[in-house]
Amino acid sequence: MLPFKRTIPLYLKEDERNGLRAASRFNAELMDYLRPHVKAGITTDELDRMAYDYTIDHGHTPACIGYHGYPKTICTSVNEVVCHGIPNAKPLREGDIVNVDITTIVDGWYGDQSETFLIGNVHAAAKRLVQTTFDSLFVGIRACRPGCAVIEIGQAIQTFAQAAGYSIVREYQGHGIGRQFHQDPGIPHFASFTSSRDILEPGTCFTIEPMLNVGGWKTRLDKRDGWTVRTLDGSLSAQFEHTILMTESGPEILTLTKNGPQEGHHF
Ligand code: MF3
Ligand code: CO
Ligand code: CO
Repeated sequence: MLPFKRTIPLYLKEDERNGLRAASRFNAELMDYLRPHVKAGITTDELDRMAYDYTIDHGHTPACIGYHGYPKTICTSVNEVVCHGIPNAKPLREGDIVNVDITTIVDGWYGDQSETFLIGNVHAAAKRLVQTTFDSLFVGIRACRPGCAVIEIGQAIQTFAQAAGYSIVREYQGHGIGRQFHQDPGIPHFASFTSSRDILEPGTCFTIEPMLNVGGWKTRLDKRDGWTVRTLDGSLSAQFEHTILMTESGPEILTLTKNGPQEGHHF
């Protein structure tokens, strides 16, 4: 069987693109604001409070609080936590890796991004995982162009990550984004058949947010809090995320930060 193409009905006009650009820029500024504080000794609750206050003080809206009942402003995923870790009162410790995932709403438009931070000196194995995950995000971004199929992103990331010996989380993926937090198309970070017919035309906005594990790809959802996703085998996991607008001339990264790691960064 195959292939009838499915163009995602998401053609954003220039003023709409500018709405997304502004939301993503604010989100990136918030990441720049938090970055110097992501250090040993701070609690993820403190980071969460800073993100909440910064967002409100600028007249914008945190996207996560109340989203399907999520209780906080940001997600903080430490070590074996894959994603959706809930900030808590435990201080970050030297040797941890922590992903900080931030989403804000500016004038009705969503901007979404995450970074994994190394807390002090971390094991070489953890640093290599973080480096490969960061690089895999850019491998995915560089694999897409106007009119490409979504699967090309996942194929490129899968080839790259597996060559480095890591597995790729399958149950959580990137997503279309705009006036909604999560919408079509889903963006798998592996070569999923389901994404082979989805075509990324100019005017489509979406996230790429690969999660790579040292061990197996399977995850387990915390039954008590209903949110925290951990690797099933307890191995380390890292993630990076950008919001991407497909334009007529190629992918535009909307959530680039001023002070954060740029493409090609060496951790
Ligand atoms: N920011 C996450 C993403 O990249 C989603 C978090 S939803 C929450 O899609 F409710 F857990 F905050
Ligand atoms: Co996202
Ligand atoms: Co996110």
